[in-house]
Order: sequence, then C-alpha cells, then structure tokens
Amino acid sequence: MEGFPAMVLLFVMLGGTAASVPQPRRHKRDWLIPTKKLKENFEYSRGTYIAKIRSDKDEDATLYYTLLGPGASEPPVNLFVVEETSGLVYIRGKLDREERETYILTGVARFNNGSGAESRIDLRFDVEDENDNPPVFVPVPPATVKESSPAWTLVSRITATDADKANCSHSKIAYSMVKQEPSDGTDLFFIDRQTGSIYLKKENMLDRETQSSYILTIKGTDMNGAPGGNTGTGTIQVKVVDVNDNKPMLDKDEYSCSIVENTANVEVMRFKVLDADEEKTDNWLAVFDIVSGNELGTFSIKTDPKTNEGILMLEKPVDFEETPDIKLGVVVSNVAPFVGDGGGAGAGGGAGAGAG
Ligand SMILES: *[C@@H]1O[C@H](CO)[C@@H](O)[C@H](O)[C@H]1NC(C)=O
Ligand SMILES: *[C@@H]1O[C@H](CO)[C@@H](O)[C@H](O)[C@H]1NC(C)=O
Repeated sequence: MEGFPAMVLLFVMLGGTAASVPQPRRHKRDWLIPTKKLKENFEYSRGTYIAKIRSDKDEDATLYYTLLGPGASEPPVNLFVVEETSGLVYIRGKLDREERETYILTGVARFNNGSGAESRIDLRFDVEDENDNPPVFVPVPPATVKESSPAWTLVSRITATDADKANCSHSKIAYSMVKQEPSDGTDLFFIDRQTGSIYLKKENMLDRETQSSYILTIKGTDMNGAPGGNTGTGTIQVKVVDVNDNKPMLDKDEYSCSIVENTANVEVMRFKVLDADEEKTDNWLAVFDIVSGNELGTFSIKTDPKTNEGILMLEKPVDFEETPDIKLGVVVSNVAPFVGDGGGAGAGGGAGAGAG
C-alpha cells in the first residue's frame, strides 16, 4: 500500500447496498474524487448516507472523522454531518441551490490521541437545480410613443429575471401580453415572446385625444412558456405623446365689430380658438395672420398665450369717411407644423373679420 494515499472517499448510491458501492481501485488517479450531485428541495431520509469517507489506517486503530468548511463546521453549520467512527456522511435539511450551489467540504481523520491520521480530502457536492422560482419582472419607467406612429414602432422592453439556473429552461422566459387597459377589444400592442420588446401593432391606432395612456400587463412563463412553467406578471404604462394632428379652429366663420374713429393702439376684438391637441404645447398654441385687407398696416394681430385667443389690435387711426367698411382675412395655424390628417380642413382655420 505504500506510495498511495490511504484515505478513501467512497460514493454510495442513495439507499445503496454493499453491492452498489463502487470499489476504489489502487491507482493514483482513482483518488481524484468525483463531484457528487444532490437534489434541491429534497428531503434526504435521515437513515440514508450520501457519501462515506474512510482511511485505510482504520485497520490499525479506531479513527475519528470530522468535516470542515461551510455547510459543516461553518455556516450553515451541520448541514452535512459525518458519523464519527464510520465515516458515513449524512445531510440534515433541504438544499436551496439559489442560496448555495456548491459545497466544498474537507474530510479529516484523527487518531484518538487527536493527531491527524491523513492528509485532508475535499468532498464536493453540487446542488442540482429544480424549477422552484417564478419570473420576477424588473420595474420599468412609463414608455412613450407618439400617436400616429407606424406599425412595428418599438414602444419599450420589459424583462423578468428568474433565480433558477442560468442558461437552462428553468430560467428561460417566454413573454405574452395578457391585458391592455383600457381596451375596446382591439389589441394595439404586441410583445416579442423571446425578447420582451413591445411594439405597436398597426399604424394610426393611437389617438391621444381619445386615450392618452394605457396599462399593459405582461406575463412571463419560464420553461420557455411550456405548460407547467412558473409564471410572473409585470405591468408597464404607455403614454401616448401628442403630435399636431388637429388644426386650430375658430368658433365662427365671420366676425364683425365696430371701431371708434380716430383711436389707435386699442384692442378691437378677440378670436376664440378650438384645438384638440395638448394644451399649452406648440401643437395647441395658435399663430394668427391677417392675410388680406391690411395693406396699410392699420391692424395687427397677436396671440394671448394664456387663453390662445387671437387679439386684433387697431394700430393706426381710421378715417371713417375714407373707409367706412373694412374687411380683413384672418388665418390661424399652430406654432408646430401640422402633421397627419386630424380635424379641420384646408390650411388651418380662417375667418373674415369686418370692422366698421
Ligand atoms: C497518536 O496515535 C497514533 C496511532 O496510535 C500514533 O501513530 C501517533 O504517533 C500518536 N501521536 C501522538 C502525538 O502521540
Ligand atoms: C449564459 O450564457 C451566456 C451567453 O451564452 C454567457 O455569457 C453566460 O456566461 C452564461 N451564464 C452562465 C451562468 O452560464
């Protein structure tokens, strides 16, 4: 036996009999100890050992075995225990791979006088994964998408994590859309099953003026979506961003008013504007122009930024005898250029204003 390490680690099948115990052979390479796989969440029965350590020196004297390392002498203490004189290793308690995937213990044999009988031997246990964790969604900030966006516009991406073993089906998540709120029965969005990317389904489906925000509920199923996979859900808010798809409209086609002779720098009248786009934005703010009847620069027009009204100002005194009747053409548009074909006709609202 000289020249060979005498400490032997035997791996024994669970519930094994003597016949199923592999017999180590006396070749140096045979002392390399294979990793033993253990099941996660499994209740190993108390009477069944999972391994055996043994030194050949037990032929001459009684040996006392101990285990060192995390899981034995260090936390979690005594999860693995060795029967002192037989060298049989037992496990006390269930294993959680997500807590610890590998245990590397050191087996020690001593004589009864306390001195070490052998060099130490590592025992390695790997915990096999069980699919015991559901997908957990990572919170995402609200997404934004412009109304009138084309089909396949990427809206956002939502993903989930899964604590089970990486790169295996236990953590392979398939995504699906389970709910869109509000909904009139038409699905506006779809999700890429593998990536979690959310896209717009068809073009011109969103209209901020009708609905400015949606809540989508997404389901993640591990086992790549197979029946029986664990599931988790997450939500994402989608905000519809305004575009200038509504033209400003005046409340009348024609206005009339009177002005006082020989006055100037006074407000003559106001034009009320209706615009369905988002208030206080360039898509809503009105810009007025006098397009006819003001060749002499008698009037000016500006916008009240608070009310969006057009304010017609008399800049120069008018001689009533010369011009008893004045007709002005006024057009209104927005600060932002018009896109799409929302409400309104022609190039913005227009009106005639007569002053006399
Ligand atoms: C302990 O006992 C063993 C076996 O009997 C012996 O070989 C060894 O020398 C002893 N050690 C001491 C320190 O007494
Ligand atoms: C999983 O696979 C990816 C890509 O193939 C690799 O980068 C990563 O290291 C793997 N992770 C594990 C834990 O094996």
